[in-house]
Amino acid sequence: MNIILLGPPGAGKGTQAQRLVERRGMKQLSTGDMLRAAVRAGTPVGLKAKAVMDAGELVFDEIVSALIGDELDAMPASQGAIFDGYPRTAAQAQALDAILESRGRKLDRVIELDVGEDALVERITGRFTCATCGKGYHDKFERRGGQEFKRRPDDNEQTVRTRMAEYRAKTAPILPIYEARGIVARVDGMAEMDAVTSEIEQVLSAT
Ligand code: AP5
Repeated sequence: MNIILLGPPGAGKGTQAQRLVERRGMKQLSTGDMLRAAVRAGTPVGLKAKAVMDAGELVFDEIVSALIGDELDAMPASQGAIFDGYPRTAAQAQALDAILESRGRKLDRVIELDVGEDALVERITGRFTCATCGKGYHDKFERRGGQEFKRRPDDNEQTVRTRMAEYRAKTAPILPIYEARGIVARVDGMAEMDAVTSEIEQVLSAT
């Protein structure tokens, strides 16, 4: 099964994707994680992407679509993919169709995490990860377990507001493409994390 987790910054896409990986053996394809790895490694893609990401704007469509194609090529054909943070524009949605078709895959579901924007700033600015194991925590929702931690450079309020504006302007408008195909399921992303996971599991079990 190939699915998209769609929702604004902080909606819980990464959190829920990791749970699906553990439960279903699917692979999480997060373009945000791929770009951050490229920035850390200082690759040409990373060098181009860093300033754009720090500003909360969107990286070029061609770059992220190429990353997705490469990741799919490295996966077993039988393994399902969870697209996390991709596609984010109409051009990326079109590219994903072509990428999947050329690899004999199809898109089964788009799960929209329905959230209130006001709560998202608190979720994102309170988020941090353990510097050793990379596990995610939150100042308020999940307490810290490790000794050292780090925060993403784009997790400050001003950049979060830009990321949300980008979502409203460029990503939310792609939903009707998938609604017209009858593959969108809306899940309450404001519920407790476990409740969100159960709702997603119900949707996927019925797919
Ligand atoms: P990306 O890394 O994709 O960031 P994002 O979409 O802004 O999403 P986040 O990772 O911030 O949030 P999330 O929905 O995964 O929430 P999470 O589960 O962490 O992109 C970063 C940047 O890269 C972009 O701005 C852009 O520049 C670039 N980029 C990436 N993809 C691109 C693309 N396709 N095209 C162009 N540019 C691209 O949860 C957030 C917090 O809330 C956590 O602390 C979590 O513990 C907590 N939480 C989660 N669920 C709940 C819940 N139900 N209740 C309470 N707390 C919760």
